[in-house]
Amino acid sequence: MENFEFYNPTKLFFGRGQETRIGSLLVEKVGTDSQVLVVYGGQSAKKSGLLDKVTSSLKASGINFVELGDVRPNPTYEKVKEGVVLAREKNIQAIVAVGGGSVIDTAKAIAICVPYEGEGWDFFEKGVVPKKALPVACVLTLPAAGSEQSKRIVISHQGRKLGTGSDIVRPFASIINPEFFFTLPPKQVRAGVIDMMSHIMERYFTQTPNTDFISGQAEAALRSIMKNGLIVRKDSQNYEAWSQIGLAGSFAHNGFYGLGQKEDWACHGIEHEISAWDETITHGEGLAVVTPAWMTYVWKENPSRFVQFAQNVMGVKEDTEEKTVLAGIAALKNFFKEMGAPVTLAELHAEKLDPQELAEKAVKIPGTLGNFKKLHSEDILKIFELMR
Ligand code: NZQ
Ligand code: ZN
Repeated sequence: MENFEFYNPTKLFFGRGQETRIGSLLVEKVGTDSQVLVVYGGQSAKKSGLLDKVTSSLKASGINFVELGDVRPNPTYEKVKEGVVLAREKNIQAIVAVGGGSVIDTAKAIAICVPYEGEGWDFFEKGVVPKKALPVACVLTLPAAGSEQSKRIVISHQGRKLGTGSDIVRPFASIINPEFFFTLPPKQVRAGVIDMMSHIMERYFTQTPNTDFISGQAEAALRSIMKNGLIVRKDSQNYEAWSQIGLAGSFAHNGFYGLGQKEDWACHGIEHEISAWDETITHGEGLAVVTPAWMTYVWKENPSRFVQFAQNVMGVKEDTEEKTVLAGIAALKNFFKEMGAPVTLAELHAEKLDPQELAEKAVKIPGTLGNFKKLHSEDILKIFELMR
């Protein structure tokens, strides 16, 4: 196990009715009569009545606010800039995000860009580390990206989808009421489940030895997500199953599952190129296509890790190591299919992408992708072949 530092200041409020606390949380953080920016997406938070509940709670607490709506999935830097102008003009002291990963990431990006004098895209493209941020609170509507606790922000701009982050971008408070997941369409349900699994698997598939404690927790978490994922796929109003998914998704990406070990992140690196290539592609669905292909390509780097995954997560065992590994990967792919997800580029409607171009883009800034096996553009090309 490796040395590590872990700091997670996000206060979580979980359960029915918790959204009504948002006003008092803001008062605690920036004081009454302060000016807050409320960020949300297209229609869902308005339709469900959540946005009204949030703004009523702010009003009741004496918080002034301005709204920035219409954040789209795979959020753009243009939208961030719009928010920055508004936030500076209105002298905003804190940001409330009401939505999923795209809304939260937009809010977090505005939070770091407002106090920054340079061009905000530098955080993403040039690796400038955010040192200052406005405080951000979240009211989550989609358990998936884990941005409500994570130190990451992912934004698209000029055909690239890039991330930045540091501990200071973690929200100071996040509210998760699983009742607000009831309205999620099947596509977002499966994408969310697969994304949170990926956040755990990107850490689980490590070459760091002696990780029993975290690996065991990761295996249990993955089993729980799959079990409850299948329940909510059929029963969209199941509060108890959504609670498990909501809790799992939020912890999947707060750093816990990577403590003391080298993380991978190649699947995310490849998927971000796919959803940057076509912004209508949903991140979690992209991961459903990339992950089994990545596994098939890299497992020989450390077969015992994949045997452990096959047996402890997917519950399969064959008479040889190789058969067990391949049965584990096949079982994962079957689970994705059972959730209704695409598992090939054609099913993702991405068969026309140019693998060469995307493979080169994926390694342009980091040099290589991943740690389980360090991938160069020629490796990524082979992984694209396995997605067909
Ligand atoms: O815009 P509205 O109308 O709200 O509809 C949204 C959107 O169309 C809808 N939705 C959200 N909550 C709903 C709902 N529909 C009905 N009922 C509800 N309760 O869902 C659609 C997708 O929303 P989005 O926020 O894009 O989804 P998600 O939470 O999966 O976030 C994905 C984004 O997060 C990034 C992804 O790359 C992608 O851009 N990620 C961010 C990470 C981070 N910051 O740590 C890590 C992740 O790996 C990921 O890369
Ligand atoms: Zn993700």
